[in-house]
Amino acid sequence: MSTLTSSIAVEQVKKSRLAETDFNNLEFGKYIADHMLVADFKDGKWHEPVIVPFGDMLMSPAMLSLHYGQSVFEGMKAFYMNDGNINIFRPQKHSSRFNKSLDRMCMPTVSEEMFIHSLQALIELDKKWIPKSEGSSLYIRPFMFAYEARLGVKVADHFKFIIINSPVAAYQSKPYRLKVEDHFVRTAEGGTGFAKCAGNYGGAFYPTQIAREEGFDQILWTDHKEHKYIDEVGMMNVMFVINGKLVTPQLNSAILDGVTRDSILTLATDMGMPVEERRVSVAEIEEGFRSGQITEAFGAGTAAVVAPIAVINIHGKDYSIQPASADSFQTRVKKKLHDIRMGDATDIHNWNFIIKG
Ligand code: COI
Repeated sequence: MSTLTSSIAVEQVKKSRLAETDFNNLEFGKYIADHMLVADFKDGKWHEPVIVPFGDMLMSPAMLSLHYGQSVFEGMKAFYMNDGNINIFRPQKHSSRFNKSLDRMCMPTVSEEMFIHSLQALIELDKKWIPKSEGSSLYIRPFMFAYEARLGVKVADHFKFIIINSPVAAYQSKPYRLKVEDHFVRTAEGGTGFAKCAGNYGGAFYPTQIAREEGFDQILWTDHKEHKYIDEVGMMNVMFVINGKLVTPQLNSAILDGVTRDSILTLATDMGMPVEERRVSVAEIEEGFRSGQITEAFGAGTAAVVAPIAVINIHGKDYSIQPASADSFQTRVKKKLHDIRMGDATDIHNWNFIIKG
C-alpha cells in the first residue's frame, strides 16, 4: 500500500456536490468530483501543484492551446477493491504514455513522481466520489494545455497540468455496428495518432458523424496510404479472435499504445491464448468472415474496457459476428482484469497502485 509522505496545499470546497450526484445514473463524464489539482509550468519549471474546488478558470481567449492545439490528456481509472482499499490502475504506464504524448506536442513532461503523487493526493481527498456498484469506477482525467496568451505561432512557454475526476458506471452499450473507413483518416504514420492529443479526437468527429448518419456506431479506421490495413476502432484499439488466436494491429506512430490493449495482450498470454501483434488487412478480415475463422471482434479502451462488435461493413457489405458468450475470450479476459483490479486475483504484473480506502 502506498502512503503519501509530502502534502499538497488544499483549498476545500465549501459545500460538496456529492448530494446532487445521482450515483444510480452515472452518465459518462456528466459529474465531476469536488476538487481538481492544478500545477503551473512557468519560467522553465513546474511550480507546486495545489488542490482547489473544481470550477471555472479565468483564461485568455488568446491562449495558445485554443489556436494551435497544444493540448494532451490521459484517461485512467480508480476502483474500490473488495477489501475497501482504493486501486489506481497502472498509473506508471499512464504516466509514461502522457510523457510520450507531451514530447510529441513540444510540451513539458511531468515526472512519474509528480504525476502519481498528484493523483494520489486528489483521489484520497475525493474518495467519496469513487462509486461502489459493480463495474463502476472513478474516471481520472489528467490533462495539460498551453495557456500563454499570444497569437504568434510558437511553442508555448506556459502550461497548466490539471487533474479532474468523474464517477462512471460500468460501461454498457449495444454491440457496435462499424464501417471500414476508406476515405477519411484519423491520422497518418509520422503524425500524432500515437499521442493522446486533443486534435486527434476533434478531427475524428466529422467522419464519425457521417458514419452515424449512414447507420453505423463507429468507424474502423484504416491506414492513411491505401486504406488497406486496420488501425483502430472509434477511440479504441481493436482486437479480433481469428482461428483461435488473439490478433491486433501492431503499434506504429498512427496507433495509440492503449493501456487496456497492453493489459489484455498480457492477460491473453497468461491465459494460454496465442497472441499476434501484426498488420491486419481489411482483405484478411473479409476473408476471415467468409471462412468463419473470425469468432470475435471488440474494441479495447480504458472507458469501455471491452466493447463488443456485432457488424463490420466492408466496402458496402455487412459481416456479422456472433454475440459474446460466457466462454468468449473477451468475456473471460474482462473478468480476469476485473478480478485483478478488485483484488480477487493475484496482481502478478504489479498493475494495482493501492492506497488506503
Ligand atoms: C478511452 O477509452 O480510454 C478513451 O480514451 C475514451 C475517452 C476519450 C473517453
